[in-house]
Amino acid sequence: MNLLVIGSGGREHAVIKKLLENKDVTKIYALPGNGGIARDAECVNVSATDIPGIVKFATENQIDYAVVTPDDPLVLGCVDALNEAGIPCFGPAKNAAIIEGSKVFSKNLMKKYGIPTAGYEVFDDAEKALKYLETAPIPTVVKADGLALGKGALVCMTREEALDAVRTIMVDKKFGASGDEIVVEEFLTGPEVSVLSFTDGKVVKPMVSSMDHKRAGDGDTGLNTGGMGTIAPNPYYTEEVAAECMEKIFLPTIDAMNKEGRTFKGCLYFGLMLTPDGPKVIEYNCRFGDPETQVVLPLLKSDLLTIMQACTNGTLSETEVEFSQGSACCVVMASKGYPVSYEKGYEITISDEVAKNVYVAGAALKDGKLVTSGGRVLGVTATADNLAEAIEKAYKLTEKIHFGNQYMRSDIGQRALKA
Ligand code: AMP
Ligand code: GLY
Repeated sequence: MNLLVIGSGGREHAVIKKLLENKDVTKIYALPGNGGIARDAECVNVSATDIPGIVKFATENQIDYAVVTPDDPLVLGCVDALNEAGIPCFGPAKNAAIIEGSKVFSKNLMKKYGIPTAGYEVFDDAEKALKYLETAPIPTVVKADGLALGKGALVCMTREEALDAVRTIMVDKKFGASGDEIVVEEFLTGPEVSVLSFTDGKVVKPMVSSMDHKRAGDGDTGLNTGGMGTIAPNPYYTEEVAAECMEKIFLPTIDAMNKEGRTFKGCLYFGLMLTPDGPKVIEYNCRFGDPETQVVLPLLKSDLLTIMQACTNGTLSETEVEFSQGSACCVVMASKGYPVSYEKGYEITISDEVAKNVYVAGAALKDGKLVTSGGRVLGVTATADNLAEAIEKAYKLTEKIHFGNQYMRSDIGQRALKA
């Protein structure tokens, strides 16, 4: 089989490596991929948001199945366009991807169907939002409606910050048209859990839970990033919590999307907060998380391609989705200065022995050498019988990877160990 994977991050690299375990897979093309992914797939210089270019490539290259991984092509309707060209895909159609593409949509959906989430108000007018925030409860969270590279949620600890957040999003348009509308949310507290799930629109099969580390610095300090590391499973996500989430959140969400005529097929990501009042949805993503995927898929024992095709074909109920009992830890190695500004272009050396544990995010090939080209350069994942061992193994592996201007957190997984 010829496969196509859209995207260029560490998450896509993890998906590609897992798909290659299926013996029927003869070739994987990555659009656009990156210099590190090029070890495992043929990278083709077509942007992940160039929908006509993706469809043209797929039809000209006898693609049997496509996996659309990032949020923007999904929200733009990449799956619909490929399906129209006769190519089956993993991922939601445009009318279902809106569950991530619009926070206003997802909050209204949860309210309508009684799915637990933070209380909220919606504004399409900056003056009204500013007036509301003069007396609203603080802390609060101000969120741009649309996609914003994961940076559109501003947690505001003071009234001044909240007023500034409205100006940043609605007046200065920091996230462009994504900020035409905003959601102002009740501030929730509690441990956060990421649960990725497979769904064919009929049943939902959750993957092993995970924990992201979003802040740049040790001890969860510094700026928010795309994610500096992950561990799985998440110790806060006990069997009781999982059962409650299935009953009150996962199944009701699949059901709600069906009732709205927006059947969701693919990977539905539940960003949860375990509050004193029970689990609540912080956000939905219409796709695999990054870097959650880099710890979840290494623990998957079942065949990924078979599961993905079952999601497409509506046969997930009879398809095995099994995870190993062990733990995984992914440490992201970044360029120092990320997420603000950083030097790149440094050569990366990775021994062949370590490469199988490495998921490359920001690297390019230059004169045949792999060089850094992004803020997050790569993730290193180790699995083990327990979390402490997985953490130790992952950090040991980082010692065997070298590049200039390197930075990583030294405490990935420590909070989970103490849980
Ligand atoms: P989001 O982009 O919606 O996932 O939000 C990014 C981060 O902001 C989350 O991972 C939380 O840490 C935080 N956050 C979002 N919404 C809330 C909320 N209602 N209460 C407290 N923290 C929140
Ligand atoms: N790790 C969070 C996300 O993928 O949005």
